[in-house]
Amino acid sequence: MTQFNSTSRRSLLLTLGASSMVAACGGGSGGGYSSGSSGGSSSSSSSSSTSSASLPDPATAPALKTLFASNFKVGLVADDWISGDASISALVIKHASSMTAESVMKANPIGVSAGVYNFVPADKLVTFTQANGIALRGHALSWHQTTPSWFFDGDSTASNYKSIVRARLETYITDVVTHFKGKVYAWDVVNEVVSDDASQTYRNSQMYQVLGKDFIDYAFKAARAADPNVQLFINDFSTDDPAKRGRLMTVVDDLLARGIPVDGVGHQTHVNTSVNLTEVENALIAVESRGLINHVTEMDVSLYADPGSCYATPATGCLSEFTGNTLSLALQAQALKYRALFNLFIKHSSVKVVTMWGTSDAHSWLNTFPITRTNYPLLFDRTANPKSAFWAVADPTFVP
Ligand code: GLA
Repeated sequence: MTQFNSTSRRSLLLTLGASSMVAACGGGSGGGYSSGSSGGSSSSSSSSSTSSASLPDPATAPALKTLFASNFKVGLVADDWISGDASISALVIKHASSMTAESVMKANPIGVSAGVYNFVPADKLVTFTQANGIALRGHALSWHQTTPSWFFDGDSTASNYKSIVRARLETYITDVVTHFKGKVYAWDVVNEVVSDDASQTYRNSQMYQVLGKDFIDYAFKAARAADPNVQLFINDFSTDDPAKRGRLMTVVDDLLARGIPVDGVGHQTHVNTSVNLTEVENALIAVESRGLINHVTEMDVSLYADPGSCYATPATGCLSEFTGNTLSLALQAQALKYRALFNLFIKHSSVKVVTMWGTSDAHSWLNTFPITRTNYPLLFDRTANPKSAFWAVADPTFVP
């Protein structure tokens, strides 16, 4: 699992207020996909150990990538281990038209030292995606949590220190984007550069401390120079929080005003069952109104509507109970929320990919973050079979 610093994530997921239970609606409206799915009401057993709902036979599950082909790519996330895992490989090959590397394309595994790269795990993922006709989304060139410490080596008081750090950043991005040129269709150039603190716009990362906000310009320009055709994104979490979004769009507007080559905004979309759909949509509108592309980059829907204190250090108030109390009620709420979210995404043609951050519930960072507990945030259960949430998304007639 990737490194995570809970301090920096305090507003993650749950700037969104109390856990209002999702009402029993969710609507099948807005479908731009052909609902050729079968088996909405058939009810043979599923192997799901996570739901009391009667689910359709997993064998009848339609491929998500086909259902949504006219709307957006459907993305799933794993690392190079996938080629040795038959059931997860099969799941991804069936449903995904896009993949993102969970860890192996980040700077700390790739950037061993200045000018020395380890592309082996990432290249295995490239091989897997190419062999299976899956597009690969690059994640992430610059992120404060995965920037190798050697980027900052040297005497920070020396007059050439800034130019040394800048050159390391630019060289790293140039070399990595060049390596994957033609193999990835989009890059998260910068990840989480927006502050969670209302008193400042930019995250006070080490890169920001050394280079100021200009490091974002350097990163985008280096990426564009290395690959004129790849799409370049700024990616962040809690874009559904109006205050965070306001800061994000300030950053985006500043970049656009100076002609920095930003193609779109990545919305991580780590949410829970009480996420405010209006605010999710407002985030999409903010981006498309600037003529930019929306990518949903890391979606999961947690069953725990934790308070903000759960994302502080030390974490307090993290819930041990599901939203709605029982697991089956929580899974029902989750299914309705997933359906509503997909219906929103379908409404906006600016949304070009919807990526879930993981594959099955067994492969989710939310089993260990913000605390260790069993979570169920994805569309497939621990045995890789479709959950209610899958069927809610795939079949408008399915009643969770
Ligand atoms: C962030 C990062 C991702 C991943 C997730 C959690 O959202 O952007 O790369 O690390 O956290 O695993």
